Amino acid sequence: MKIRTLSALAVLSLILCLMMLAACSISDGQPQANSEPVAPSQVSDFDTLYAQNCAGCHGARGLGGASISLDDPVYLDIVDEATMRKVVANGVRGTSMPAFAQHAGGMLTEQQIDVITSGIFSRWGHKQVLDGANPPSYAAKAAGNVGHGRLVFGTFCASCHGSDGAGTPKGSAITNDSFLALVSDQALRTIVITGRPELGAPDWRGNVPGRPMTDQEITDVVAWLASRRAKNPGQPYSASNDTQQSKAQHREK
Ligand code: HEC
Ligand code: HEC
Repeated sequence: MKIRTLSALAVLSLILCLMMLAACSISDGQPQANSEPVAPSQVSDFDTLYAQNCAGCHGARGLGGASISLDDPVYLDIVDEATMRKVVANGVRGTSMPAFAQHAGGMLTEQQIDVITSGIFSRWGHKQVLDGANPPSYAAKAAGNVGHGRLVFGTFCASCHGSDGAGTPKGSAITNDSFLALVSDQALRTIVITGRPELGAPDWRGNVPGRPMTDQEITDVVAWLASRRAKNPGQPYSASNDTQQSKAQHREK
């Protein structure tokens, strides 16, 4: 009887052991070969890199973000890949465009920056939309003339942005301190050349139908906008807040 109980126990524990072994060999809880998480620096797929790093500001498919569209064949016809790569690697100082290269404090490897920039061109560019249109150059070739820029603004921009750039229902305010403080001269130039097609802003050919802007007109209007930039954009606000506050305190006394 005693022996039988013992051997029953032995059989039982053997069964238990086998069950545990079986449980161990089942891949329960173990990652499948293809489910291992990829280290951030190893991600090499354009869609993932774009979604994680750019979509928040430039739109999910390169369109409709707060910043300019990258899915814009006009833009991709005027900018070259090396220039874009530099912007993505180093960012644009003084604006919200971050530096992505590790040497500039970003999180992306050189290879990942290559994947993103060449991906933007292969996916959204190369449409030859400007064949024969002789577009203005991406970068300004000369210094702008502020006085002439003001006249250019009146001719090409005032109809939508107002005579002094304070905005109309057809186009927002673009000469206010907060806007100008956060945008570079190059971004202004880019927008004048490309427009914001997804928002109904015409490119350099469409402000005045049948009268494309010349390279110099673009340079000059950007110089005028830049001349409206406040030197210390934070100052007027805090100064006037201080004044209001001290007035309020004065009244309380
Ligand atoms: C936090 C918002 C933000 C993120 C994220 C961001 N950008 Fe930008 N980007 C901007 C802003 C704002 C500008 C305009 C900067 C300026 O004033 O020159 C800009 C400008 C650019 C330009 C230059 C446009 C021109 O005038 O030629 C390129 C190219 C660009 N971004 C690509 C990218 C790519 C690619 C990514 C992802 C790797 C990215 N950006 C992520 C905000 C962002
Ligand atoms: C036919 C109307 C129209 C004309 C003409 C026009 N724009 Fe615009 N512009 C727009 C619209 C619409 C937008 C996008 C929505 C907005 O910001 O109001 C825009 C956007 C902009 C922006 C970006 C504003 C932002 O908040 O990101 C700038 C800068 C700009 N325009 C400059 C100019 C300049 C400079 C000219 C003249 C060379 C010009 N525009 C001519 C309609 C126009």
